[in-house]
Amino acid sequence: MANDQITQNTVLIFDTTLRDGEQSPGATLNVDEKIEIARQLSRLGVDICEAGFPIASPGDFEAVRRIAEEVGPLTEGRKNGQPMIICGLARANKEDIRRAYDAVKAAPRHRIHTFLATSDIHLKHKLRIDREECIEQVITAVSYARSLCDDVEFSPEDAGRSDPEFLVQVLGEAIKAGATTLNIPDTVGYTTPDEFGWLIRYLIENTPGADTVTWSVHCHNDLGLATANTLAGVQAGARQVEVTINGIGERAGNTALEEVVMAIHTRPNFFHLTTNIDTTQITRTSRMVSAYTGMVVQPNKAIVGANAFAHEAGIHQDGMLKHHQTYEIMRPETVGLHASKLVLGKHSGRHAFRVRLQELGYDNLSKEELDVAFQRFKRLADKKKVVTDADLEAIIADEIYQPPEIWKLNHIQVSCGDHSIPTATVSLTGPDGQVYQDAALGTGPVDAVYQAINRIVGVPNTLLEFTINAVTEGLDAVAETTIRIQPHEEGGYKLNPQTNQPSARTFSGHGASTDIVVASARAYMSALNKLLAARSEEVAVSELAVAHTEG
Ligand code: KIV
Ligand code: ZN
Repeated sequence: MANDQITQNTVLIFDTTLRDGEQSPGATLNVDEKIEIARQLSRLGVDICEAGFPIASPGDFEAVRRIAEEVGPLTEGRKNGQPMIICGLARANKEDIRRAYDAVKAAPRHRIHTFLATSDIHLKHKLRIDREECIEQVITAVSYARSLCDDVEFSPEDAGRSDPEFLVQVLGEAIKAGATTLNIPDTVGYTTPDEFGWLIRYLIENTPGADTVTWSVHCHNDLGLATANTLAGVQAGARQVEVTINGIGERAGNTALEEVVMAIHTRPNFFHLTTNIDTTQITRTSRMVSAYTGMVVQPNKAIVGANAFAHEAGIHQDGMLKHHQTYEIMRPETVGLHASKLVLGKHSGRHAFRVRLQELGYDNLSKEELDVAFQRFKRLADKKKVVTDADLEAIIADEIYQPPEIWKLNHIQVSCGDHSIPTATVSLTGPDGQVYQDAALGTGPVDAVYQAINRIVGVPNTLLEFTINAVTEGLDAVAETTIRIQPHEEGGYKLNPQTNQPSARTFSGHGASTDIVVASARAYMSALNKLLAARSEEVAVSELAVAHTEG
C-alpha cells in the first residue's frame, strides 16, 4: 500500500460528514460550525477529513481553506501523533481539481479526491460520453491532480452498478496516472454485502498495480446495508472506509462511522483489525454533529441513539444486575457515554460544574462559554431538583453549539387555552442594540410566538420540521426542540456534485428549556440567526473573492 502510515491491520477512517454528510437535505453548516466539527473529528482520531467540495460555492471553498489552515496542523490527542489529512472533492476536470488543491494546500497533509461515473446508466444519460472518453477523462484528471499533489484519490462513481471488467480497466489507468487511493462507491446503495465484498476482492485481484494503492469503500444506506457492505469490503481487503458521523448523508445517508469503528473494536477476534479512533469521543462528536446540523438521531440508532445502552425488559435488567455481559456487548463508557446520574444541585459551585463538564469531555470551553453555561445551570437548578448529565449536555448544546446572536431573544409571554385565541408578546434585541417588541395571534402558543418574532425580524420563511424531545424523565424534564426553516427567497446556492444542480438551502435551529414554548422560541431564533449569518457570510465571501481577483 502506498501510504507509509498504513499497516495492514489498520483501517483508515475517512470522514465525509462535512462533504457527503452536509449534502443531507437541510444539513447546512456555516464556516465556524464546520471548523468546530473538523476540530472534533481531529480529536476523535479521524485519519482523513473530507472537508468539502470547494468548487460548489465560495462559502465551501472558504470553509475547506480555513479547515486546512486552522485544523490541518493539529496533532493534540491523536493516537499516531500525525495530523489529519485534509481532503477536497473535485469532479474530473481541471477547474474543479485546481480549486480543490488551492483550498487544501495549506494543510501539512492534504489530498485531492476526484471522481467520475463509470456505470453505463451514468455514462449514457448523465455524462453523455462513451467508455473510451470516460477513461481519457480519468487519465487527464488524475495526472493533473498528481501534478499538484502527491496524495490523490480517485472514485468511479456508481461503481456498485458498473461493469466490473470496465472498472478494472479504469482503475488500472487511474493507478498508472498516479492515483494513490482507489475508492469504490456504492453511490445508490444498491448492492448486498456478498456482492459488494465480491466486487472489492475482484478489483484488488485483477487491477494491474493494485498492491501499490490503498483500497477504500464508500457505501450509501438506501437498503439499510451501508455498514454491512462496508465491513464486507474491509473483509475483502479495503483498508480505508468512507463514513459520516451518525450516518448522515444524501437520501438514506452514508455508512455511520460509529457503527464501523465499534464493530471492528468489539469483534477483534473476528476482524483482526484496528483503527486510530479514540472511541471515547464518539458520543460527544455525535451530539455536536446532531446539534449543528439539526439532524436528530433516532432513539434506536446503533451506538449513539438514546436507547442504544438502555435495558428496558425486566428479564434484561435482571441479567444486567447479575452480570453486565449478559446483555451488553460494549460498555457505554467505551463510546464516551456516562450513566445519567444526579451530579449537581443548586448549591454546587463553579468548580464542581467545570470539573463535571471536563469529565463529560467538554475540556476546551472558553471562560465566557463556561460563565454562560454556569448561569444557565444555576437557573435550571432553581427549577429542577435533579440536574443530570443529560441536562448538562442539553445546556451546552443550547448555549455553545449556537450561531452568533444577530437577534437576541429577551422575553416571551404567551396566553393560550381551549377557550382563547393563542396570543404571544415577544421582546428581542436587534443587531443595532435596540429593543423591539411586538405581539401576534397564532393557531397555538408556538405559532403565536413565531408570528410575533416574524413581525420583528421580517425574514419570510416556511417551517419544514419541528421536533421536541424530553432529555430526561419526569414532568420537570428539559425539552430540546429542533426545527428546520426554508427562506422564501434564496439568493446563494450550493452545487450538489452528484446531480450537478443547485440544492435548496434550509436552516436548522435548536433550543432547550424546561418550558417547551421557550425551547421552541430559542430554536426559532437559532435557525433565523443561522440564516442571517449565512447571508452575511455569502456577502463577505464574495467580497473576498472579488478582492482576490482584483489583487
Ligand atoms: O456516493 C458517491 O459516489 C460519492 C462520490 C463523490 C465518492 O459521494
Ligand atoms: Zn457518496
